Amino acid sequence: MSQQFYKVTSTKVGIGTAHSKIILMGEHAVVYDYPAIAIPFPAANTTVQISPNDHGRSFIQSRFYTGPLDAAPEILDNLRTAIQVARSSLKFPQQDIDIIIESTIPAGRGMGSSAAVSVALVRALSNLYGYRIKDYQLQFIVNQAEVIAHESTSGLDTLITSTNRPVIYQKSISPVPFSIHMPAYLVVADSNQPGQTSEAVGKVRQLREAKPELTKIAMDAIGDMVQQATLAIEAQDVEELGRLMTYNHYYLNQLSVSNSQLDQIVNAAWLAGALGAKLTGGGLGGCVIAIARDFETANRIETAMLEAGAVQSWQLDLRTI
Ligand code: PMV
Repeated sequence: MSQQFYKVTSTKVGIGTAHSKIILMGEHAVVYDYPAIAIPFPAANTTVQISPNDHGRSFIQSRFYTGPLDAAPEILDNLRTAIQVARSSLKFPQQDIDIIIESTIPAGRGMGSSAAVSVALVRALSNLYGYRIKDYQLQFIVNQAEVIAHESTSGLDTLITSTNRPVIYQKSISPVPFSIHMPAYLVVADSNQPGQTSEAVGKVRQLREAKPELTKIAMDAIGDMVQQATLAIEAQDVEELGRLMTYNHYYLNQLSVSNSQLDQIVNAAWLAGALGAKLTGGGLGGCVIAIARDFETANRIETAMLEAGAVQSWQLDLRTI
């Protein structure tokens, strides 16, 4: 990486942004090397501002904690790591800074909140020091921070929160970026229950040990549906994509990572005219996604999901990604 050193002017402010991510299809099976489709989700995002200070200590302002960085709770260890790794690998100055984090990405809902904040933070630092960071450098630094936040990481959150294109992701092969550009809307609703990714992944692992055949059938089916979904997207067949999403939810249910609250929101979306709906991410909480042919239906679905217990929601016009 770069050997350059940077001149600091205290009046400068560095700004960095990042978006959230949504897994469209294929979660859980992806752990066992089946493909998944993940998309950038700009409707929920993070902005970080950084400026040098001369108080002799770095400060952070965020929704979890505001105060000196060195006294911040463990939940912000990932950010301390991102700063340290950025400084050492990009030779940024060791100076005191004020960090302001504004984020509309709910934490623990499978939307990549921690990765997005780290991405925005490293971009803000790079912006402050006038450094044009490359994607591979950004992803290397954020992955170190994500290991702190989540212990093990597939790298999916880092990849999607730092790039602008949907991706077909499979552990054993390089990610394949593609475009959706489909005349349809994606509605995302927050069930208000924190997602429990590690518990859900553990549950699937146990099920796989106890009932290997049943689990293999479900995962083969999910893998197959993801392949079919890529073809449906290519053919701009929104109805088929919706159908596949709903089947995917059914198989996630078989893997026992849904719950009654998520099912209720999925059903509400369905009854309001969704072409398909499913949980997204680890499950056992987190978010539900639904697909609609037009804006009016998307609004109707959003209202129905909120009435069914969701606490906040977003939309994405799939023509834009
Ligand atoms: O809850 P999220 O968005 O972190 O998604 C987890 C997706 C899983 O497939 C369940 C786990 C993984 O590491 O891919």
